[in-house]
Amino acid sequence: MKDEKLIPVVMELNSLLADYNIYYQKLRSFHWNVLGKNFFDLHVQFENMYNDAKIKIDEIAERILTLRHHPVSKFSDYLKIASIQEASIMVTDQEMVETLLNDHKIMLSLMVDVTTKAESAGDEGTIDLVGAYIRELEKTSWMLNAWSKGSNGHLKVDEIKS
Ligand SMILES: [Fe+2]
Repeated sequence: MKDEKLIPVVMELNSLLADYNIYYQKLRSFHWNVLGKNFFDLHVQFENMYNDAKIKIDEIAERILTLRHHPVSKFSDYLKIASIQEASIMVTDQEMVETLLNDHKIMLSLMVDVTTKAESAGDEGTIDLVGAYIRELEKTSWMLNAWSKGSNGHLKVDEIKS
């Protein structure tokens, strides 16, 4: 595998790494600052999500090293490179979930860019790694979206039963 072929893959992986770092810190912030009736559910859910993000941050950085390149490591650089934005804590639980769903759309599109570049470079290892991330993030998005629908879904089921 020619090293030069991998440069576009590494650039996309570094963008994804930057986004994951912003996303990770946002999840920690939401875990700490969520308020209201859904506190216990979301406090735990955000912790599960940041623990998962922490593992993926390490995997992305080590994939870049495996490709014999260097991962971006400074938070000041992540803020410059990332596509997603830092979040305010002055938001409701519903707005936190909507913010995360919007971040997921941006991150999924970045992941598709990574796999497209990896296909061009014949980099099967990156396709395998990031392909799994796409599947997992799509599933998490479905679950957060289901949560954000509130109780309407249950009402419809009750109507069918009666
Ligand atoms: Fe905690």
